[in-house]
Amino acid sequence: MHVDNPRMTLGVNIDHIAVLREARKINDPDPLMALGICAQSGADQITIHLREDRRHIHDEDSRRIIAASPLPVNLECSIDPSIIEIVCSLRPHRATLVPEKRQEVTTEGGLDVIGQFDLISNAINLLKSNGIEVSLFIDPSRESVEASERLGAQWVELHTGSYANLYAMRHSSLPHSHHAIESLQLSRSELDGRIESAYSDIVDAANYARSLGLKVAAGHGLNYQNVSYIVQIETIEELNIGQSIIARSVFTGLSQAVKDMKTLCQR
Ligand code: PXP
Repeated sequence: MHVDNPRMTLGVNIDHIAVLREARKINDPDPLMALGICAQSGADQITIHLREDRRHIHDEDSRRIIAASPLPVNLECSIDPSIIEIVCSLRPHRATLVPEKRQEVTTEGGLDVIGQFDLISNAINLLKSNGIEVSLFIDPSRESVEASERLGAQWVELHTGSYANLYAMRHSSLPHSHHAIESLQLSRSELDGRIESAYSDIVDAANYARSLGLKVAAGHGLNYQNVSYIVQIETIEELNIGQSIIARSVFTGLSQAVKDMKTLCQR
């Protein structure tokens, strides 16, 4: 049965606009230009990730986006004290704490909320004392949810990457993580079992988090195919989606971009 969750809100992660800009180290495309388009198109939140290596969004982007955004800004960041200090001064609406490794292509796995309890606790206290709402990006497990609640976070964001990778492997024409595909050689029925188990981990963690009074978001690797199952989970109230939206916009926008340049060529 397909039950859409009409209350589910959408945070659009615009990091990949800055990824494109950084490919040339120029000012175009400017992620700031996306704010009005996202707001007019139904986005409920802008999400950006100020990475320690500044590989896409820079401090100045964050400052300008937070100052200009008509929508609440959810700033993802690591728990590194120097980053937390910057985030406190930027004062986004929400900070989502994520694990960060220098070499990773994207955020792999959730925060170690049990092993890094004290460090995370310090970061949360600082952020909250600056009036910033806190979310923790965690693996979908009861242990992580329970530790997040003890840490005093207002939100948890459940990492949907395992579900998304398995879904892409099952429907192999979809984009997927090459790492995941190399390490798993599974039959279709084994994959179905793994998808079901990854999905039920998300459902269980979401329901448990809600029962503890936490607000629940989810994200990572969600796209125009796999999102249809996630929106059926009524205890999840927000999705944060980036790569698939920006990737699609290349093709939905390409026709107009070519026409505009052709017009100039013929002048
Ligand atoms: N949520 C969090 C916490 C993330 O770190 C990311 C990736 O930056 C996303 C959501 C969006 O993931 P994707 O770009 O795969 O949609």
